[in-house]
Amino acid sequence: MKNDLFHGDLVYLTAEESDTQAAAFSRWFRDTEYMRLLAVSPRVTWSTKKVKEWIEKDYEKDRPEGYFFNIRAKEGDKLIGFFGLWDVEANHADTIISIGIGEPDYWGKGFGTDAMRLLLRYAFVELNLHRVSLFVFAYNTRAIQSYYKTGFKLEGRMRAAMLRGGKRDDIVAMGILREEWEKNVI
Ligand SMILES: CC(C)(COP(=O)(O)OP(=O)(O)OC[C@H]1O[C@@H](n2cnc3c(N)ncnc32)[C@H](O)[C@@H]1OP(=O)(O)O)[C@@H](O)C(=O)NCCC(=O)NCCS
Repeated sequence: MKNDLFHGDLVYLTAEESDTQAAAFSRWFRDTEYMRLLAVSPRVTWSTKKVKEWIEKDYEKDRPEGYFFNIRAKEGDKLIGFFGLWDVEANHADTIISIGIGEPDYWGKGFGTDAMRLLLRYAFVELNLHRVSLFVFAYNTRAIQSYYKTGFKLEGRMRAAMLRGGKRDDIVAMGILREEWEKNVI
């Protein structure tokens, strides 16, 4: 097993200055296809200033239950996305995660899967968690395929949980247990 927690084959993890992060995030938030894949809330436009304030407020919070990383592509050193491990429940050793590659040119080229491998290593090696959970829209077939590749299993469906463009769709629950991850990695 690799020892460097923050470096994958294609990407590495960073903490960005709030200006850099806000410029990228406000641009990504205006990409309605990205937001259709990522978020359940209505799509809105956020100025860079507003995103920066939101980020800085978040930095101030003392939140040991959450871990956030930015993702940079090794080649070209471009900031391409983020992931977060939210609501880390120490008593259950579980977390709900989210991931977003905000630069569409980097979709479908292995960057997200490489970042997810880093996320899982961080969750199981550094945080000693027992499971990692996520929710994904059923229409986000690229994401689901990427999650299967890193060992996630389908755990259930919230039927017709969302309504977009006049069409109802399911939200899919996926999860991976520590022993399942260890079988593939160690
Ligand atoms: C989801 C996400 C992290 C996946 O990362 P990625 O780098 O694009 O994924 P990868 O290239 O590693 O893997 C994608 C897989 O899906 C396949 N794929 C690509 N487009 C697809 C599509 N439209 N439908 C089904 N499968 C697709 C690819 O062939 C690849 O599988 P393979 O390696 O077995 O051939 C990234 O696409 C992303 O952030 N998208 C926008 C926001 C988002 O969807 N976030 C997730 C919210 S739950």
